[in-house]
Amino acid sequence: MGEEKWIHAASKTYPVYIGQNIWQEVGQTILSALSSYSKVFVVTDQHVAALHKEKLDAWLAPLDEVIYYITPNGEEAKSFAVYEDVMTRAIESGLDRKSVLLAFGGGVIGDLGGFVAATYMRGIPFYQLPTTVLAHDSAVGGKVAINHPLGKNLIGQFYQPEAVLYDTGLLGTLPEREMRSGFAELIKHALISDQQLLDTLITTYRKPEDFYTHDLTAFLSQGIDVKAQIVAQDETEQGVRAYLNFGHTFGHALEACGGFKRWLHGEAIIFGMLFALRMSGEQLNLAFDLANFEAWLTDLGYETVLPQDVTFEKLYQNMLHDKKTTYQEVKMVLLREIGDLVITPASESALESIFQKMKREGA
Ligand code: NAD
Ligand code: GLY
Repeated sequence: MGEEKWIHAASKTYPVYIGQNIWQEVGQTILSALSSYSKVFVVTDQHVAALHKEKLDAWLAPLDEVIYYITPNGEEAKSFAVYEDVMTRAIESGLDRKSVLLAFGGGVIGDLGGFVAATYMRGIPFYQLPTTVLAHDSAVGGKVAINHPLGKNLIGQFYQPEAVLYDTGLLGTLPEREMRSGFAELIKHALISDQQLLDTLITTYRKPEDFYTHDLTAFLSQGIDVKAQIVAQDETEQGVRAYLNFGHTFGHALEACGGFKRWLHGEAIIFGMLFALRMSGEQLNLAFDLANFEAWLTDLGYETVLPQDVTFEKLYQNMLHDKKTTYQEVKMVLLREIGDLVITPASESALESIFQKMKREGA
């Protein structure tokens, strides 16, 4: 049996359905909602289309007009060029204000598809149909965006979906590297909420194969709960929502350093969390066994040693473009203890000092 939970954002309340084969359980209900729209516009990527489009086709078969837009794989799809092309297809296909968009894929497709939905004719409804581990985070909460070459997610909106249909049965086809990248956001949800969740993750997942043999659904559901609680308090990141950005000031800057190609999102966020944990230890006396944590990450296959060619100057320039940076002041999300967070300004010299130590000594 799957699970139904509700996201209470200020602008909208909507359901999240999560479970193995949940599609079969609630597919009919969503299908009847979809049948009331003039056209259904599906945004997906090449991998997901190759692996899972047949299932979607079979599900959507009773509907009159279904149009597909298939993007390139990966972060490239969150570019201006792809965004423009999706819009062109939507206009040429005659989508109107009574049309609906389905974002069927990982976080990239959710962010791109959601941003298309938010801006097409000033907004049409959309559904999130996440297919990656990472998307337990990205499909919930309504942040939708594309990238600018100078920074991650700099062009975007807060725009909530009608519903999220998360069939975790689709995760079995994810390559190991993508599993690991998505698991990083689950680690984040544990670090920002609950020592016990972190401990259970650490004991359950010891090596990469465990991602496939130990069902992630219950943990993903807990991750969604952590996010839902924060989004309910602060949909548009006036305050506590920034906690969800733990590890992201550094992580997003690193992603930009790599041209959004060198590191997957979660891989960069792991470095960002190690950076923030070290800073939390130095500035807030966080009691945390960083060495053990890093050893666990290494066992799971994460890179934890920053490559020598990454320079502080470039990273810092990118951090200045972070959305939390205001009046040229970089903000870090730090931990006083697991689940107890603080948002604090960070000087260039304080950031550089942590960076140099991390490069010399590892995390
Ligand atoms: P992704 O969407 O690129 O998916 C990762 C890869 O897995 C892609 O190559 C995709 O084709 C493939 N894939 C997807 N589903 C598959 C499946 N079931 N089987 C096999 N392959 C599959 O990336 P992602 O890691 O899901 O998401 C990363 C993006 O999410 C980043 O752009 C990040 O900024 C964004 N994000 C957004 C939020 C938010 O709140 N909006 C939160 C976290 C991350
Ligand atoms: N991933 C950060 C947020 O949703 O706010």
